[in-house]
Amino acid sequence: MGKGYYISKHLATAAMVLAAIALVTIIALSVVYNREKSKNAAKFTNATTSPVTPTPKTSNEPWDKYRLPDTLSPEYYNVTLWPRLVKNVNGMYIFTGISGVMFTCVKKTDLILIHSNKLNLTLFKGHHAKLMGQSGVTAPAIKTTWFQTEKQYLVIQLEGKLKPGKSYWLYTEFTGELADDLEGFYRSEYMEDGEKKIIAITQMQATYARKAFPCFDEPGMKAVFHITLIHDLETTALSNSQEIKNVIIDETAVTRTIFGPTKKMSTYLVAFVVSDFKYIITVYENYLFGLSKVRIWARKKAIEDGQGDYALKITQPILEFFEKYYNTSYPLSKSDQIALPDFNSGAMENWGLVTYRETALLYDPRTSANGNKQRIATVVSHELAHMWFGNLVTLKWWNDLWLNEGFASYVEYLGADYAEPNWNMKDQTILYDLQRAFAVDSLTSSHPLSQKKEEVNTPSEISEMFNTISYSKGAAVLKMLSEFLTEPVFAKGLGNYLKQFAFGSSVHSDLWDHLQKAVDQTPGVKLPYSVHEIMNRWILQMGFPVITVDTRTGNVSQKHFLLEPDAVVDRKSEYNYEWFVPIKWMKKHQVQDQLWLLQKSALHKPMKVSKNEWVLANLHVSGYFRVNYDLGNWERLLSQLKSDHQVIPVVNRAQILDDAFNLARASIINITLALRTTKYLLHEREYIPWEAALRNLNYFFQLFDRSEVYGAMQAYLKKQVKPLFEYFGIISSNWTTVASGHTDQFTQIIALSLACSTGVEGCRELTRSWFKKWMQNPHNNTIHPNLRSTVYCDAIAAGGTEEWNFGWQMFQKATVAAEAVKLRSALACTKVPWLLNRYLEYTMNPEKIRKQDATSTIGYIASNIIGQPLAWDFVRANWDYFFKLYGTGSFTFSRLISDVTYRFCTPFELSQLKRFQKDNAETGFGSGTQALQQAIEKTTAKIKWLAENKEPVLQWFLSESA
Ligand SMILES: *[C@@H]1O[C@H](CO)[C@@H](O)[C@H](O)[C@H]1NC(C)=O
Ligand SMILES: *[C@@H]1O[C@H](CO)[C@@H](O)[C@H](O)[C@H]1NC(C)=O
Ligand SMILES: *[C@@H]1O[C@H](CO)[C@@H](O)[C@H](O)[C@H]1NC(C)=O
Ligand SMILES: *[C@@H]1O[C@H](CO)[C@@H](O)[C@H](O)[C@H]1NC(C)=O
Ligand SMILES: [Zn+2]
Repeated sequence: MGKGYYISKHLATAAMVLAAIALVTIIALSVVYNREKSKNAAKFTNATTSPVTPTPKTSNEPWDKYRLPDTLSPEYYNVTLWPRLVKNVNGMYIFTGISGVMFTCVKKTDLILIHSNKLNLTLFKGHHAKLMGQSGVTAPAIKTTWFQTEKQYLVIQLEGKLKPGKSYWLYTEFTGELADDLEGFYRSEYMEDGEKKIIAITQMQATYARKAFPCFDEPGMKAVFHITLIHDLETTALSNSQEIKNVIIDETAVTRTIFGPTKKMSTYLVAFVVSDFKYIITVYENYLFGLSKVRIWARKKAIEDGQGDYALKITQPILEFFEKYYNTSYPLSKSDQIALPDFNSGAMENWGLVTYRETALLYDPRTSANGNKQRIATVVSHELAHMWFGNLVTLKWWNDLWLNEGFASYVEYLGADYAEPNWNMKDQTILYDLQRAFAVDSLTSSHPLSQKKEEVNTPSEISEMFNTISYSKGAAVLKMLSEFLTEPVFAKGLGNYLKQFAFGSSVHSDLWDHLQKAVDQTPGVKLPYSVHEIMNRWILQMGFPVITVDTRTGNVSQKHFLLEPDAVVDRKSEYNYEWFVPIKWMKKHQVQDQLWLLQKSALHKPMKVSKNEWVLANLHVSGYFRVNYDLGNWERLLSQLKSDHQVIPVVNRAQILDDAFNLARASIINITLALRTTKYLLHEREYIPWEAALRNLNYFFQLFDRSEVYGAMQAYLKKQVKPLFEYFGIISSNWTTVASGHTDQFTQIIALSLACSTGVEGCRELTRSWFKKWMQNPHNNTIHPNLRSTVYCDAIAAGGTEEWNFGWQMFQKATVAAEAVKLRSALACTKVPWLLNRYLEYTMNPEKIRKQDATSTIGYIASNIIGQPLAWDFVRANWDYFFKLYGTGSFTFSRLISDVTYRFCTPFELSQLKRFQKDNAETGFGSGTQALQQAIEKTTAKIKWLAENKEPVLQWFLSESA
């Protein structure tokens, strides 16, 4: 799946910082998750698995286990589905289906367990299925069939045994609801030309295929799918493989679209769509299949507007890039990508039919920002990377999800970089993966990348794996691996791994085996230990080290980095929280040989330097660790930044800022030292360091915007950002154009939003006059798309009901999804409490705010200083509603919890949080369980830190802003 809820990367930062005079925070920062279930596991079991049925204790029956037994193995399915896009007599939208699965008996058994959830199965002679033997084998008679609803099984008990090596055909007929619940086979509605349209679409990952047809719904249970869809004549049906036949069924005015057999694949990658969408197409030369089709599908209007053109343009280069990178041709004969009006995650890599949120696929040059364009390039690249890694070769079980998602999250930058070589994509991983992962992985409530398979069972536990650790830490750790192996070796091992396991499934150590072989076959690449031994330390224990370089002696040491210095780590590690650390580094002007730190501490003489030199470790931030130095070296780095910051690589400037702030938060260095790293920003013009600075300062705003520190901090920042604002004023001809460089355009947004929020003269006048002009002439929005988030937010924050209502009207009229998101987030910037409360109410009304957008809208409101307490009350008051809707499955749920508690930093808020945990223990927290524990841990840490640091921070800002 794509990084669903990460929202638009740039949009979030810029818009929300501006969120007014009272600098409101950015939201995309601290995505918090935690996997420490041990303490509360028991408590939540009841609610997470099924709100109604308690878990039966100590049953050893196969149907009481979440994992399928290894007795049967599917070969192929024949599935015919007929979604009805009009209500039936009971006022319900339904689909009907018939499905058969051919399976082989592997071990003798008189029991068939097959997943089936929320389907009403037709009875045949009192049983929910028919069973037939193949090739002359007689199937045993069915004794009884029933549903184990909690484990989501159809249980079929037989009179006799199935025979090993023989195949059987299990046949079912069923009816299901085509609900608007974003799971399984579901419906989505949208307006076109004043008319309500309905489409039928799917989201199977992780455990929803069983809601569309009975199936062995585990990723390792691969099979071939023969799919047929029945639908109205004026609609088109799509599925994973190429449509091969359309048969019109005369009397009924419906048509039957038959699709060719798929490759052998996992159930979670199955997809169907029935819609009246339009498409654009290119043909792409694929040496395996000759010509492959690439099609982009979307609403008719969006396609006619050209919104699919950009995605079509980059798909082919990205496919080509991955064919070379994986040394394996694209495994299918077509690639469909479709933009859906209602979609819970960012995108889903269904094999051959990738589904996207509209904002992740559609680009309108007239109204979309360059950040929107970048998001499309990275999401498309991410999903296409899965066509091989994840789809062709699939991890056996969800405990290894990190490898699937971490991998795609890493190589998405490589694919996007190939399609857009001038965007500096590779450097951006440090912001969007490494630093984001650090934020979560420095808590004691973090968890190792790789879980034991026994620890991941229930649908909620599986959903919870879709988290920052899996995606972002996975990406950062794999990037480190690729860098210390060197990219050719990494790619070679990878290619061989894909060849061996094509159309099958694997576990993470299979990849290590192939990488090791590639190392062994490449002279010149030497590792101190095997790939297994090195990687086990990174994936089997949580967290990461802070490396301390003492340049007075050359001593290098490592320590588990924890944000809360006194925290007790309950989780044991067989490696004692020590890592094998590859350290690339440089001295002033001179790149040095990589060194390996293999113990707790070691002497590395070349790191002992004289008084006019400095050491910079983790060069280009290729390693997943933080760095601390002796004070003298810190001082020399600071003076280097001051005198000529460009001697230090761009990403390392961002690293110095982010490491310093976090070391200070962990009380390892003095906070004033961290604050001093921001002084050189007067001269900084690059995006990545500014963004890193902004995130850390935002954290400060969160802590201090209700206290006396706020004024002094704002005055200091105003001073720091003023030159940047003036610089962009000049190069953009007084803000009438945008910078030409891609990332410079991001910096320009930061300049504008930070300048306006800190009150740099001339800034607010500018943004508000632009918005006013638009209000006077709603049909002609002249605000540059890049700047819209900032301008909308600022104007709505400064304005009242009139501005809000105008924004709301424009939101409702928006035909480009990216534009709608900008307005939706800006509407949360108002400071008028009743408007915020009404907006919160709207999130419970899908006519106003789509279900896919409800939780993120609440998150936007919670990041507003005035909205936060309102959002918190609102979520608590409506807990049952949100839990029922999002609690057990969707991984957006944990974001809801972290968003509404993000600002918490007082003892009173902590007690509220604990109270909330207690009060709702009955309902539980489902896939937000970790997020809640993290919120408690973070709030506790903040309270403590504030007590010690508030005064020095105040003094520093006062002295610097004087
Ligand atoms: C789970 O639910 C059962 C039945 O309602 C109850 O007896 C038990 O105490 C619950 N367990 C926990 C840990 O809340
Ligand atoms: C399943 O569908 C395929 C393709 O249409 C067909 O060849 C096969 O006979 C069907 N299998 C059964 C058991 O109906
Ligand atoms: C399934 O059966 C239940 C119970 O009879 C009924 O309430 C529900 O509406 C049915 N669902 C569908 C999709 O027909
Ligand atoms: C941090 O540095 C400041 C200024 O040098 C000093 O006043 C303060 O005591 C230091 N704080 C700690 C905790 O060492
Ligand atoms: Zn993914």
